[in-house]
Amino acid sequence: MKFLFSTIGQKVQIAVSGLLLAIFLLFHLFNNLVLFTGADNFNNMVNFLKSIHVFIRILEIGLLGIILLHVINAISTTIKNKGSNNGAYAVTTNTASWNSKTMIWSGITILFFFVIHLRYFWYTFQNMNTESNFFNIVVQNEFGFLGHTPTAIFYVIAIILIAMHLKHGFLSVFKTLGIPIKYRDSIIKYIAFLFWGIIPAGFIMIIISIQMGVIK
Ligand code: HEM
Repeated sequence: MKFLFSTIGQKVQIAVSGLLLAIFLLFHLFNNLVLFTGADNFNNMVNFLKSIHVFIRILEIGLLGIILLHVINAISTTIKNKGSNNGAYAVTTNTASWNSKTMIWSGITILFFFVIHLRYFWYTFQNMNTESNFFNIVVQNEFGFLGHTPTAIFYVIAIILIAMHLKHGFLSVFKTLGIPIKYRDSIIKYIAFLFWGIIPAGFIMIIISIQMGVIK
């Protein structure tokens, strides 16, 4: 128990919860790729998910718990780090990249993206019945949805920040978990690229396709 609240324990909590969130993103991308196959398929998929809503609710509560673990531990270690040296790095070296120093800021922007995303997508879907056209909601040209160009631009910026956040996260997670450097430099590098490169690119591809009318 004491370990969990030590600085290392908190880093392990950030690492493990971060990995679980990345796995959620993979599933979420697969769900949304169905948009390419047309409205009927997408609406059928959402209806299926609604038909097993008790199971989905349990997963959502799990996801919320994981997000809270990730965010609370991240904020707490940031505050601890600042407190330990008056807010300045004791030694400024090139090893702490710009990306690592801004993790907390990209994290906060991502949190803001989450609030907007859940308010417009998750909340709207909750209040729709099974006969509704969910597909039209996703692609409509109205603030908060992806047919709306300013919203689409905000999404692309947020997803690029998510990609940078994931890249740094993946580069650190294997250090935190003590995976030897020879493994870190092999297959794991490619798995990491799938998560910080390919998956965010997949989301951006969906948004651009909606904007260009490929998904309509
Ligand atoms: C093209 C981009 C995206 C689209 C079209 C999209 C679409 C959706 C939709 C339709 C829902 C509601 C699902 C439901 O209630 O049945 C949803 C929920 C959610 N999205 Fe996204 N999403 C996108 C990108 C993202 C990204 C990049 C993240 C995370 C960084 C994210 C995180 C979530 C979360 C946490 C939920 C709530 C969990 C759930 O109920 O499934 N989404 N999204």
